[in-house]
Amino acid sequence: MATAGTEAPVVKGLEGVIAGETAICNVEQSALIYRGYEIADLAANATFEEVAFLLLEGHKPSKDELARFKKELIAERDIPEMVKQNLRHAGELVNKHAAVPMDILRTAVSVCGHFDPDCQDNSAEANLRKAKRILAKVPTIIGHMQNAIEGKDFVAPDASLSHAGNLLWMMTGQKPSAEDEKVMDVSLILYAEHDYNASTFTARVIAGTLADMHGAIVGGIAALKGPLHGGANEAAMEMLSDIRRDIGPENDPKKIADWMQKAFVEKRKLMGFGHRVYKNGDHRAPILHGLGRKAAEKRGPEFVKLFELGEAVQKIMEDEKKIYPNVDFPCGMTYFTMGIPVPQYTPIFVASRVSGWAAHVMEQHANNRLIRPRAAYTGPDLMKWNG
Ligand code: SDX
Repeated sequence: MATAGTEAPVVKGLEGVIAGETAICNVEQSALIYRGYEIADLAANATFEEVAFLLLEGHKPSKDELARFKKELIAERDIPEMVKQNLRHAGELVNKHAAVPMDILRTAVSVCGHFDPDCQDNSAEANLRKAKRILAKVPTIIGHMQNAIEGKDFVAPDASLSHAGNLLWMMTGQKPSAEDEKVMDVSLILYAEHDYNASTFTARVIAGTLADMHGAIVGGIAALKGPLHGGANEAAMEMLSDIRRDIGPENDPKKIADWMQKAFVEKRKLMGFGHRVYKNGDHRAPILHGLGRKAAEKRGPEFVKLFELGEAVQKIMEDEKKIYPNVDFPCGMTYFTMGIPVPQYTPIFVASRVSGWAAHVMEQHANNRLIRPRAAYTGPDLMKWNG
C-alpha cells in the first residue's frame, strides 16, 4: 500500500478518515442529526428558516430571534446592480453552452462579495452577517437567472414569502401553492447540512487558510456542481428521462429490468444511488420520496408514472446491488413534478446548503488550524537536469 511521508497509509478518497471535529451535524448509519435534532423531527416540525438559524447560531431560535432572523433575510434579498447586469446574459451563455446555471450562480456569489461591506472581515460577527446576506441573495440570483434564460423581466423578491416560497415565486412569477411551498421548504431542510461532504470540506479548507466567507462559499458551489455530489439531483432526473425515452411511454417491468441489466453490464453509475457514508440508505431519501409522491398524485397521472418508474428502478438496485437511493434521487422526481427546470436543481441545493457551509466556515475560523495533509509521492526517481 502507498504511504504518505513514511508511515501513514493512503486511504483513497479519504474514506472513513476522521478529518476534523464539528458540533454542527452528525451523519451516522442510524441517524442524521443537526445540532442535536433528528432530521425527521426537523422535516416534520421546523421551517427552513428555523433550521438555518439553528445551524448558523447554534441553537433553536426563540420566537423573537426567528422573527428578527426572517426580517434580516428578507431585507438582504436584493442583489448588486453589477450582478443583475451579468445575469441578464444568462440566457445567451446557456444557449451557447458556455455556462450552466451552477457556473453562473458561482460567479454571481463571487461578485456579491465585492459589494459586501464585510468582505475582508473574518470576525464571528462579520461572518454571520455575510452568511445571512449570501443565504438571502442566492434565491434572487437563481430567480433572475431563470427569468433571463426564459427571456423574461426579472421578478422582484416578495417580502411576504418564506425563503422557499420566494424562491419558487422568483423563478416563475407565480405565487406557489401552499403544498409546493411546503415541499420546497422540506427539501431545503433536508439539503441544509451533512458534515464533511466534499463541498463542505472544500469550504473548510478554504476557510482554514483564513480566506474569506465568500471565497469559501464559492469553492463550495464549485465542488457541489459535480454529478458525484450535488449535481446528482439533475443527473438522476436526466437518467429517468433516458430510461423513459428508451422504454417508451409505459412502465413495462420487462423493459425496465432489461434497461437496468444493460446498465449493470456496462458498469454504469446510476445517478442518485449510493453514498460514501450511508450503506443501508440515506435518512433523507424516504422523507422526500413520500412528499414528492404526494405532490405527484395531486398533479396528475404522468407524474405518478414517473414515481412508479423511479420505484421500479430503486427496487432493482436494492434487490440486485444492495445500493440505496440518496436524497438526490427523490429530489429529481420531486422538483420535476413541481415544474422546476432540471438545470436549476443543483442551484436550489445551494440555496439551502449555504447555511451549512457558512456554519462550517464560522466553526473553522473560530478554532482554526491550516488544513494541509500529505501526499504519497509516486513520481520518477531523482534525476540530474544536466546529465
Ligand atoms: C451527495 O457525502 C455527502 O454527504 C454528500 C451528500 C450531501 O448531503 O452533502 O449526501 C450529497 O453528494 C449524494 C451523492 C450523490 N451522488 C450520486 O448519486 C452519484 C452516484 N453515486 C455514486 O457514484 C457513489 O455512490 C458515490 C459517489 C455517492 C459514493 O462513492 P464511493 O463511496 O466512492 O463508492 P464507490 O464509487 O467506490 O462505490 C462502491 C461500490 C462500487 O462497486 P465495486 O467496484 O466495489 O464492485 O458500489 C458501486 C461501485 O460501482 N456503486 C454503484 C453506485 N454507487 C456505488 N454502482 C452503480 N451505481 C451507483 N450509483
